[in-house]
Amino acid sequence: MSSLLSLASFPESAVDRLLDAAFGAERRGRTAYKIREGMAWLPHLSFGIANADGDLIGSLQSWPVALHGADGVQIPLVMVGPVAVEPSLQLGGHGRAMMDAVVAAARAQHSDPLMMIGDPEYYGRFWGFTAEGTGGWNAPGPFEQRRLMALSVDGRIIGGTGMLGPRIRVSA
Ligand SMILES: CC(C)(COP(=O)(O)OP(=O)(O)OC[C@H]1O[C@@H](n2cnc3c(N)ncnc32)[C@H](O)[C@@H]1OP(=O)(O)O)[C@@H](O)C(=O)NCCC(=O)NCCS
Repeated sequence: MSSLLSLASFPESAVDRLLDAAFGAERRGRTAYKIREGMAWLPHLSFGIANADGDLIGSLQSWPVALHGADGVQIPLVMVGPVAVEPSLQLGGHGRAMMDAVVAAARAQHSDPLMMIGDPEYYGRFWGFTAEGTGGWNAPGPFEQRRLMALSVDGRIIGGTGMLGPRIRVSA
């Protein structure tokens, strides 16, 4: 038996262990890490799965990021990922459960558009993430354009040109 919980229910060290097991320790050099450098993950859009003993076997984090235009204007986005399932338990529906949860929560919260670097064969097939509107987006590291995808959760049009990076806090 497993349960889907807020990721805030688990120690940060358990998340790190799971991500190392799923992606390897060199994961920290990836472009996705540079896009959200210095940001804290969003507790209301991040989920974990516990096994019957309460151990973390699945993790999904979301981050505040933005598309920074040449005019200095930032378009806020929510970066989803990494999505990771304990290697021995993959293909058992845990990834889908966490993704279902984040997409439903984002829709309920009318969040900023979701974006990610991931496999279209998975994230496009089940949730409709698409690279259609991201052709003008650049990133602070190598990426394949077809894997740079977005999903609007409130009808906002995905588009624009600029560089992806951490969200700059705008004071009210
Ligand atoms: C990718 C991952 C999150 C998917 O979660 P999961 O619990 O293993 O998979 P699910 O049970 O939710 O999904 C199963 C279905 O999705 C398909 N699928 C899973 N991962 C896929 C991928 N990377 N590409 C294409 N299809 C994929 C499976 O073939 C299966 O399809 P079926 O129902 O037609 O048989 C998980 O396998 C994982 O942690 N992988 C290693 C890390 C990784 O690559 N993360 C994604 C990048 S952020």
